[in-house]
Amino acid sequence: MSIRPCLFVVLAAGKGTRMKSSLPKVLHKIAGQSMLAHVLTTASGIAGGKIAVVVAPGMDAVSAEALRVAPGVRIFEQAAQRGTADAVLAAKSALDEETGSDVIVLFADTPLVRAEVIERLRAALDGGAGVAVLGFRPKDPAGYGRLLLDDDGSLEGIREEQDASDAERKIGLCNSGVMAFRVAKLSGLLSQIGSANAKSEFYLTDAIEIARNAGLKAAVVECDETDVLGVNTREQQAAAEAVWQARARSAFMRDGVSMIAPETVWLNFDTQIASDVSIEPNVVFGAGVKVEEGAQILGFCHIEGATIGKGARIGPFARFRPGARIGAKVHIGNFVEVKNTTLEEGAKANHLSYLGDGIVGAGANIGAGTIFCNYDGYNKTKTEIGEGAFIGSNTSLVAPIKIGAGAYIGSGSVITKDVSPGALAIERNTQEERPGWAEKFRAVMSRRKAAAQRK
Ligand code: UD1
Ligand code: MG
Repeated sequence: MSIRPCLFVVLAAGKGTRMKSSLPKVLHKIAGQSMLAHVLTTASGIAGGKIAVVVAPGMDAVSAEALRVAPGVRIFEQAAQRGTADAVLAAKSALDEETGSDVIVLFADTPLVRAEVIERLRAALDGGAGVAVLGFRPKDPAGYGRLLLDDDGSLEGIREEQDASDAERKIGLCNSGVMAFRVAKLSGLLSQIGSANAKSEFYLTDAIEIARNAGLKAAVVECDETDVLGVNTREQQAAAEAVWQARARSAFMRDGVSMIAPETVWLNFDTQIASDVSIEPNVVFGAGVKVEEGAQILGFCHIEGATIGKGARIGPFARFRPGARIGAKVHIGNFVEVKNTTLEEGAKANHLSYLGDGIVGAGANIGAGTIFCNYDGYNKTKTEIGEGAFIGSNTSLVAPIKIGAGAYIGSGSVITKDVSPGALAIERNTQEERPGWAEKFRAVMSRRKAAAQRK
């Protein structure tokens, strides 16, 4: 690891036209987190680094996101989007203040770059290069700048695809956009870049030739395509998402989580899963989920904003919304929705229920079809169920309501008043029975039908 200080310049001012979206490109998400946040999180994790983010005028949402994720960042505005070199120069005052630092340019639309790859790039500067470029060999190089090497394998220049000859387009080694500089006065070097090219833009990639002409060494460090996928279109966003998911699943499996069909499990950037958790196919994790040791997640669960306690068993087909707190050894079965509700240790809700804004005491049993009626169109109110209570099937609990510990609720009841501990509450008509009724009924009906058919 390099011990020199460094300045990250994160470019985020591009229009992102190819996304065809009203949202700025760098706010589009990978694993539930903006691409900009991915890049800033990685940069923040590198010791000795300061961060400058370049945005376009009016991109307040982008600045706000940068400050949310990395409160120490400095924001610079690029007045007009005239290319990547012009964008870096928007942070000129930071470049000029940090003359002793390595400058590392990151693109906010290249969200998968990892700290260890950045460190490998910096090692090239330690090895004597004035500029180092992270290169890669994509399966499909279309759209990327090509790296031109000289006979001894050092970097001669970068050619953007639109300016490349047919021969140059056949080059497989491409520019990731990630570049590191150790140049006495970088702003001076970059201001020599012109815009005589197909897009009439100031290309950062032209810095290579200028640096070489100034007698600096230019190096290429190669990395895997998956580290530097650039996202310009929705399809590339999906490709980056797939790479992120594959990495995260592997990391969890290495840490002792089992997934029998990992490719069907969708994780969020902040998902926490402890060891010995097992996850069946087709499970989706939204934001803010923590799963504790040994829990079993059966197929087709959708989980967000929830904690799943030790040894709990949830699903198949269960839905957890924000504020679901599932205690140790709790069982939640199919078609149960839990929102803002705590279930204490060993409680069970095995079938077809809605548990919203409640507390379910330890060991309580919630029968099939139980509904917490928590909303009257204006207010949300609370359902409290004591330890060991038994709620019969098809019960409506009209909140606010308290069911005492150990109480029983008869099936089919609509409970509107609090129930004392240990009591039975039942709310339905008394059952009536008429002996022999069925036989008489059938006799009358078949006689009538036969008479009607004779007419
Ligand atoms: C760029 C590189 C290309 C490389 C590719 C990798 C240049 C000239 N081209 O092309 O060699 O293979 O990335 O993904 O550098 N941006 C600004 N201001 C601008 C223009 C762009 O801030 O005026 C930002 C964008 O928000 C984006 C990044 O710079 O984060 C790259 O811009 P983009 O337009 O996506 O460049 P590419 O065409 O992908
Ligand atoms: Mg791009």
